[in-house]
Amino acid sequence: VAESIHIPQSHDRETVYVALLPQIKSLFEGESNIIANAANMVAALKEAFGFFWIGCYFVLENELVLGPFQGPIACTRIQLGRGVCGTAWKNNETIVVPDVDLFPGHIACSSLSRSEIVVPIRDKKKTIFGVLDVDSKSLNDFSSIDKIYLEKICELLIEKKGD
Ligand code: SME
Repeated sequence: VAESIHIPQSHDRETVYVALLPQIKSLFEGESNIIANAANMVAALKEAFGFFWIGCYFVLENELVLGPFQGPIACTRIQLGRGVCGTAWKNNETIVVPDVDLFPGHIACSSLSRSEIVVPIRDKKKTIFGVLDVDSKSLNDFSSIDKIYLEKICELLIEKKGD
């Protein structure tokens, strides 16, 4: 059982992601339940980067429903095409929003959130069944580095039931 993860003392996000990726992979290898794995995934990322809000939403009966997260309480349900999460789901693509005030229809769960990234979570058949949402109190906090590594991490988070 993994008791802790090792996070390098670096201000370079890529360095931290590179160290984190194999540790998250081995966390997932020891557990088949997707909710448990999503919970540890967001905890590890929160611990490593101190994100203001990070969490998953999962598709349930044609809505996104709040899953494991770290941070202040959040909206529980998001419709297809609504906000950044609902748009990432609809378009089946990662969305980086440098300034949430400039994103039409942004859902402000917290007025403190200024920028965000939303990454699809897909199953083995590449069907989207959830999203990872990361919110920051700073403008323009997410780059292509976050996109690349958060997409890799979400690719590891696949439903292992029935393997
Ligand atoms: N920012 C999201 C809503 C979810 S919360 O911020 C946790 C959006 O517009 O999709």
